[in-house]
Amino acid sequence: MQSKVVAVVPAAGSGTRLGGDRPKQYLSLGGRPLLTRTLMALEKAEAVEAVVVVCPPGAEEATRERCVAPYGLAKVAAVVPGGAQRQDSVAAGVAVAVELGAAWLVIHDAARPLAEPGLFARVLEAAQETGAAIAAAPAADTVKKAGPNGSVAATLDRAELWLVQTPQVFSRELLQKALAAAQKEGYYATDEAGLVERIGGEVRLVMGGRDNFKITTPEDLALARGLMGGGVRVGQGFDAHRLEPGRRLVLGGVELAHEAGLLGHSDADVVTHAVMDALLAAAGLGDIGQMFPDTDPAHAGADSIALLKAVVERLAGEGWRPLQVSATLLAQRPKIAPHYPAMRACLAGALGLEPGEVNLAASTTEGLGFVGREEGMAAWATAQIGPR
Ligand code: CTP
Ligand code: MG
Repeated sequence: MQSKVVAVVPAAGSGTRLGGDRPKQYLSLGGRPLLTRTLMALEKAEAVEAVVVVCPPGAEEATRERCVAPYGLAKVAAVVPGGAQRQDSVAAGVAVAVELGAAWLVIHDAARPLAEPGLFARVLEAAQETGAAIAAAPAADTVKKAGPNGSVAATLDRAELWLVQTPQVFSRELLQKALAAAQKEGYYATDEAGLVERIGGEVRLVMGGRDNFKITTPEDLALARGLMGGGVRVGQGFDAHRLEPGRRLVLGGVELAHEAGLLGHSDADVVTHAVMDALLAAAGLGDIGQMFPDTDPAHAGADSIALLKAVVERLAGEGWRPLQVSATLLAQRPKIAPHYPAMRACLAGALGLEPGEVNLAASTTEGLGFVGREEGMAAWATAQIGPR
């Protein structure tokens, strides 16, 4: 029996404009995958009875395991593969939603995690009048049409302009008819309402919040993280290495003249290693042992500053950037303070920070322990990271 309100969540895009190291729907937002945040909003939306998630082909199992199962999202009834364009993904989801008994179809972008749960009911109610309704916001900025040479061709009447969002809600008959007509003609629209308009359907506008923006660029992700209060994160790192006569002593990327150096698989730069661990910890990405296994010959004798740059890139791929780093080195000898400026400059260069954002401190242990006996050195670091 077709009586249900079923949401279809297109989450099969590649997020090229955001440019992360994986599609944006899988990036972290307030400690959960962005897709999970969107599904949580639907879970709270009383109007919606079931949810069909459409993910990149081949990612069904991983999407279920990482974004759905751990979060008690009881409404998610299916995770199915999408297509090359958003419209193909929506069509795939709609087919499954209809099998589940949908009378009303609620299309909602995975990339709009901040939709207020009550909005779904308001759009559904409006859709029940004409068969179709969409969330949208009146244009706040003046909108101009550009001409071919990059100049303004016309100023549009702002009072008539609405910026379209999702949810978009349709009766099953109407959306299936619109999708079938578009498929027959090979026509693609940027939203489902566009397909319904094309076959003469009346689409109602419902005021959606301006916080229901689509996460499209890195700035959008930063804004969403800020709004969720998950903007800044902190991590700590620790490392220790043994001293060995005749080895190079590299600390914070700077080589110091000394009769002994630190022993390790890479250049054993204990300060830089602690900083890398602090950064990875802040982003929840484990530690350097996981990222650069010391069984990998590629890292033998590696320049730790180059490894630090790779860590910064890894964070960038997750939408994070370093904000501030502080490290403390325990070393009995040589004197470290004269090298602070060079070490800060070197670390700051790799981190994309100003030297003022990278603090270094050093201490002896007054002869105590392995550091005092000059058997080794140790370092701690703390890192603060924020949205890229
Ligand atoms: N989408 C989809 N299938 C596609 C393309 C997009 O399901 N073939 C989904 C996206 O996952 C997103 C929503 O449609 O939730 C809105 O699309 P958009 O913001 O354009 O996302 P992407 O296509 O992933 O991003 P980009 O265009 O920057 O690559
Ligand atoms: Mg796209």
